[in-house]
Amino acid sequence: MSIAPLNILAVVGSLHRGSVTRVVIAYVAKRLRAEGCLVDVLDFEKEPLALYNPDTAHDLPGYAELQARVERADVVILGTPDYHGGISGATKNFLDHFWHEFAGKLFATIVASHEKGLTVTDQLRTVARQCYAWTLPYGVSFTEEVDVNGEEIVNDDFKERLDMLIRDARVYGEVLARQRRADLTATEPGFLARHRKEA
Ligand SMILES: Cc1cc2nc3c(=O)[nH]c(=O)nc-3n(C[C@H](O)[C@H](O)[C@H](O)COP(=O)(O)O)c2cc1C
Repeated sequence: MSIAPLNILAVVGSLHRGSVTRVVIAYVAKRLRAEGCLVDVLDFEKEPLALYNPDTAHDLPGYAELQARVERADVVILGTPDYHGGISGATKNFLDHFWHEFAGKLFATIVASHEKGLTVTDQLRTVARQCYAWTLPYGVSFTEEVDVNGEEIVNDDFKERLDMLIRDARVYGEVLARQRRADLTATEPGFLARHRKEA
């Protein structure tokens, strides 16, 4: 079964108007589109998402459409700034809205930080585990001004790390998407068994 095209949701987890996370997500999205992927960029500065309330989330205007975009994704690329050693509120809020939709999918993480963002990467990996998602075995982090200046990525070492993430998100994203689709229609046991639709 071929996964063509691979659907990627790329999330900008910063509301900051001059966000460097947004610059990097736009770069990654452009590169993945050039490699034949369908990339949907979700930017909460342009599409505000209400604070998650389990009592009312499903009634939010546009919620069903957003849920369908998350459901459609084979891979979720999460870009977040480091806020106090943790993920941004915008990123956490997005992740709170969904879990079922993440199961069996690949997360690739990018963190804007002055301190390598390791604790932030760990938090994203924890959320992925709780939601039965996979993560790449590494995260990419970068520093504003050193790696991104204005709208430009200015550090070749950072570009190389992004090359690796772009390639791995596409290749491992396809492998996992193929297996996820097979598992959703199989009858064997496995963690995706609970996500099968009733026949
Ligand atoms: C509320 C707040 C908390 C922050 N905490 C940290 C931090 O703990 N460690 C760090 O390295 N940078 C921290 N920063 C700096 C941001 O991570 C950094 O400026 C990042 O590049 C912002 O990304 P953005 O432009 O995409 O929003 C903090 C910034 C803000 C606004």
